Amino acid sequence: MTYTPAKDRYDRMIYRRCGKTGLMLPAISLGLWHNFGHDTAHQVKQAILRAALDNGITHFDLANNYGPPPGSAEEAFGQIMQADFRGLRDELIISSKAGYRMWDGPYGEWGSRKYLIASCDQSLRRMGLDYVDIFYSHRFDPDTPLEETMMALDQIVRSGRALYAGISSYNTEQTRAAAAILKDLGTPCVIHQPSYNILNRWVETDGLKDALRELGIGSIAFVPLAQGILTGKYLNGIPAGSRATQDKSLHPAVVEKAMTAVRKLDEVARPRGQSLAQMALAWVLREGGITSALIGASRPEQVVECCGAIANLEFTAEELARIDAISGEKEINLWAKSAD
Ligand SMILES: NC(=O)c1ccc[n+]([C@@H]2O[C@H](COP(=O)([O-])OP(=O)(O)OC[C@H]3O[C@@H](n4cnc5c(N)ncnc54)[C@H](OP(=O)(O)O)[C@@H]3O)[C@@H](O)[C@H]2O)c1
Repeated sequence: MTYTPAKDRYDRMIYRRCGKTGLMLPAISLGLWHNFGHDTAHQVKQAILRAALDNGITHFDLANNYGPPPGSAEEAFGQIMQADFRGLRDELIISSKAGYRMWDGPYGEWGSRKYLIASCDQSLRRMGLDYVDIFYSHRFDPDTPLEETMMALDQIVRSGRALYAGISSYNTEQTRAAAAILKDLGTPCVIHQPSYNILNRWVETDGLKDALRELGIGSIAFVPLAQGILTGKYLNGIPAGSRATQDKSLHPAVVEKAMTAVRKLDEVARPRGQSLAQMALAWVLREGGITSALIGASRPEQVVECCGAIANLEFTAEELARIDAISGEKEINLWAKSAD
């Protein structure tokens, strides 16, 4: 059946400025890391993307390696773009990244010019796009001169393959250095994509959040729900089909370790009239410090619930203090290495 996006979709979302740039992003964005590979039915992917757009999500985040197999999420997105979102390209912000292993041999990962430009071209072909809106260096490469990686991003933007350049999981020092190089090249760093949630606050302790504000760079927090831990789904055990059962990126032991903290957080969320997922997203977005919360979803209903977070982004000092006390008990940062 032909899909027509909800007419009132822009009234359902709020849009926030990405640092001191011209780019506006929805407070909630959708990532296609999981649930968009060959292990998920096409109808499910389509329903998730339609629900997102209908609720005002205009930003879809991909990477070369999302699947399984790697590349298949970009292919699926390209197909749905053609079928459902055709004619809407100018209303969407689509991002991709390169940094992790994508193909065999010495040119298939990290931060060389050779890899980044070839990977960007492959991503565009898979998605059937002329350009992406944001192209990221997915992780800092300790062995490639940062100038080379940033010059590749600059070339990707100047050649029209991307409109904006971004970096992901770079620590504060690496971010300052990257931003300075990009500024000199005339292609500013528009956005940083770090992991950030109530149980993983490295962007605060490392000083990254403050540095981004100072530099006028926007931010989009990935895994804002700690891969689902910060939702109601694990409160009564690990349900069949959940990510923790899939032997992917979330080990059941990590979930179990976090549950005492999660139960206490749920008690903070309830009197706010929010689900735990909604409070966790509101917390990431609090005080405007982070531009957008980048969620994942395995079902369209999850997207709808998450978008409901924007109804209340305010916290009392007492709520924040309770959350601080709980999050101080348990830190879970599955990306600690790449940010070091
Ligand atoms: N830059 C990087 O290095 C990097 C790394 C990782 C991710 N990312 C980006 O961040 C995006 C989000 O990552 P993520 O999927 O781990 O984020 P997340 O939002 O922390 O977790 C998403 C998972 O939480 C569960 N969930 C979501 N909403 C729910 C709800 N309302 N109720 C119950 N459960 C709910 C679902 O789990 P179930 O599947 O169990 O239902 C869903 O798959 C990725 O798609 C990718 O774009 C970037």
